[in-house]
Amino acid sequence: MGKILRFFVKYGAALIASVYLFTIGFFKSRNRDLISAIAAHFGFGKTRMNKQPQTLPQVTAQELIPESPAVRLKEPSWADGNVSLQELIVINQLVRKHRPNCVFEMGTFDGRTTLNMALNLEEGGRIFTLDLPSEEISKVSLPIDSGDSKHILKPESGARFKGRVEGSQITQLFGDTARFDFSPYEGRVDFVFIDAAHSLEYVLNDSRIALKLLKGGKGVILWHDYGTFDGVTEALNRLSTEPGPFRGVRRIRETSLAYLSLD
Ligand SMILES: C[S@@+](CC[C@H](N)C(=O)[O-])C[C@H]1O[C@@H](n2cnc3c(N)ncnc32)[C@H](O)[C@@H]1O
Repeated sequence: MGKILRFFVKYGAALIASVYLFTIGFFKSRNRDLISAIAAHFGFGKTRMNKQPQTLPQVTAQELIPESPAVRLKEPSWADGNVSLQELIVINQLVRKHRPNCVFEMGTFDGRTTLNMALNLEEGGRIFTLDLPSEEISKVSLPIDSGDSKHILKPESGARFKGRVEGSQITQLFGDTARFDFSPYEGRVDFVFIDAAHSLEYVLNDSRIALKLLKGGKGVILWHDYGTFDGVTEALNRLSTEPGPFRGVRRIRETSLAYLSLD
């Protein structure tokens, strides 16, 4: 009975929200962004991809991780929303190289990268992974990219690490990176992976938060989707030319990963 009620409440609320979205709600720009995302989800409308020049200096994975440590890898099969297998290996090698005690991931999705980072942590290492629940897609505080919606609307956040022993090293957090209270994590993190919303506004916001998370301002920040989503590309092009800590961001060649190590 409870299940049936929950079904009607959930889809009834979605129906009412949809009516609002296409009537009064249409006058709010963030709701129009959502409508564009829905259109793109069904194959209509343009996504804003690949129009930005890719100006970041590049480095090869070999130059960055010459020791090329052996890594542990699970869940190799790729799903739309995941990093590529090559990127997953590079991320795992970076975790091995830097031995972070505390990792913070923005954008859990199915948890494939979360699980793999956990597998390559030293004993006692922890991962916090933050994700926007699908039902909060219309409540985001900043514009999202039209390509973000299908990943926000995933069936289950962190499904790939659920029920696994490595899951005990992972803490799942839920919320919007633009509104989440990061204060308990500030100054505690060694390694941040940014892969949540891909608009310019979100990537600028998430990158500035990442700096605050780092312990004593030291550690690694890694971004996904440079050169894939214009928002990520533009944000990193901009940040890397501003005076300050982002000057050292480099794109890892043959991947869409961007890397910054601060020490
Ligand atoms: C591309 S997927 C992440 C993929 C994952 N990192 C991986 O490597 O497999 C993007 C994720 O970010 C989440 N997301 C999007 N906007 C967000 C926001 N504003 N705050 C928190 N999470 C967000 C989505 O729900 C989605 O799960």
